[in-house]
Amino acid sequence: MQQLMDNFNRKFEYLRLSITDECNFKCNYCLPDGYQRTQQKQFLSELEIKNLVQAFSELGTKKIRITGGEPSLRKDFTSIISTIAGTPGIEKVATTTNGYQLKKSAQQWFDAGLDAINVSVDSLDAKTFHLITGKNIFQKVMEGVAASVQAGYKQVKINSVLMKGFNDLDLSLYLEWIKNQPIQLRFIELMQTEDNAEFFARHHLSGEKFKQMLLADGWIQKVPLSHDGPAQIFSHEAYQGEIGLIMPYSKDFCKSCNRLRVSSSGRLHLCLFGEQGVDLRDLLASENDKEALKSRILQALESKISGHFLADGLMGGTPHLASIGG
Ligand code: 5AD
Ligand code: SF4
Repeated sequence: MQQLMDNFNRKFEYLRLSITDECNFKCNYCLPDGYQRTQQKQFLSELEIKNLVQAFSELGTKKIRITGGEPSLRKDFTSIISTIAGTPGIEKVATTTNGYQLKKSAQQWFDAGLDAINVSVDSLDAKTFHLITGKNIFQKVMEGVAASVQAGYKQVKINSVLMKGFNDLDLSLYLEWIKNQPIQLRFIELMQTEDNAEFFARHHLSGEKFKQMLLADGWIQKVPLSHDGPAQIFSHEAYQGEIGLIMPYSKDFCKSCNRLRVSSSGRLHLCLFGEQGVDLRDLLASENDKEALKSRILQALESKISGHFLADGLMGGTPHLASIGG
């Protein structure tokens, strides 16, 4: 079988597929003014998604994460899950959600074939959660997380973006939470995008300092598995849960890059902070274009460069991560 690989010997078995740009939250670091509907955007249809996933699967993609915006805002979300899960060669289907629908739908998505779920919980304090996301539904999201553990997902992960002045004092609450819960807590270092420069300057917290704190507390860094991607994982004998640390500014972050991205309008992005992307949409409507689609993807990968230029202040035109699914 063909295998997606770039000129730096990085293998890509993992695709992050955005199915909508829309979001109903107003996270202060992402969409502080909420999602702005500009022109009537046509997001990928279920048929286009099916054809896309089929082609990627034939190129060796094994895992797909459905992202947004907020993917569960799509009315056909459950059906999209079954379509992707039913594609031969796809071994794992995951999603990243803000948790808004989780309590109601965790079981239904699981039954449709979803294997893993990441939920954004940027604070464990209800008021701060409201302040960060614009939604006063902390309790509901937490119940959604509990419902996911209950539903039997292989993996329930929590994403929390580290922010000075918002959640930097919550660490002990977070630790308490995962003491007896099989949850992986992932702390993500705040990334600068085109839209959040001022916020970034005020609230960015060094992931490296955070890491030193964990190590001093008896957390031990696990040997990375090939499919972990750029996250560093820590465990502790006194805790059932784990901690993941995602530090996009660390020196070797891009070396372990294992993912490609497709936006909700069908553009292939080789890097979260890359350029305009390669348009695939004209080849998605018909199954008959599959071979041409595969060639275009393979050709695009030829131009994947070794890393991003965030440290130089270059954001590659990414306004916020809702536009490309994080
Ligand atoms: N920096 C770091 N993480 C971000 N996310 C969204 N925007 C940013 C940013 N600027 C995270 C969300 C979500 C994941 C998809 O990406 O919190 O957990
Ligand atoms: Fe929505 Fe996620 Fe952006 Fe928050 S971080 S506004 S939940 S897309």
